[in-house]
Amino acid sequence: MIEFINLNRSEPYCIFEDLYKKAINKKQKHIEAIAISSIDEKMNSPDSRFVNLKYVINDEWIFFSNYESPKAQQFSENSNISCLFFWEEINAQIRIKAKIRKTKANISDEHFSKRSQQKNALAISSRQSKEIGTYNEVKRNFEITLNNKDLIQRPHYWGGFSFTPNYFEFWEANEFRLNKRKVFELNDGKWMSSILQP
Ligand SMILES: Cc1cc2nc3c(=O)[nH]c(=O)nc-3n(C[C@H](O)[C@H](O)[C@H](O)COP(=O)(O)O)c2cc1C
Repeated sequence: MIEFINLNRSEPYCIFEDLYKKAINKKQKHIEAIAISSIDEKMNSPDSRFVNLKYVINDEWIFFSNYESPKAQQFSENSNISCLFFWEEINAQIRIKAKIRKTKANISDEHFSKRSQQKNALAISSRQSKEIGTYNEVKRNFEITLNNKDLIQRPHYWGGFSFTPNYFEFWEANEFRLNKRKVFELNDGKWMSSILQP
């Protein structure tokens, strides 16, 4: 589930909220899973991964991760991202483009304090995406952290990432591939909308 706080009332946000409610009513699984694509400047290549979107606070979309991971490095070198949801239960795809930044520390602290001890032990013990010899070492690092470390204090290398969309495309499937596509682009603070052919 995604938590909406004081959600922006502009048209693309209303459409997003409406589709989200329809998908929830149809019991869409992993509704918060969003693919985030960034640019790996060194490899001159796009790179994608799913994360769980936790909050939308007005127009700020937030997920949490490791600040020393490959994605964090990519965001710091090039803040342009593109994002995707696919909600199978309503056959809808949502495409988003945005610039990404770190979330304010107080939001990350608050979220970390709400999580389970196990999740925090894993966040503290894992050097995300760094190589390790065996899976047993991963488990040992987790257990040592769970039993010995402060699990309340957020480590400096973990926290939120925030992005504010400047582009939405809502794609809704229809019979005979007569799919509906509506785009919103932010132009001088105003959303301009258009319809695309399927
Ligand atoms: C459905 C799903 C949700 C995920 N959620 C998160 C998340 O919220 N934060 C996170 O750091 N990784 C999450 N992951 C793992 C990432 O996809 C990825 O493996 C990890 O963040 C390392 O990415 P990087 O090497 O590009 O930095 C999730 C994976 C899946 C399949």
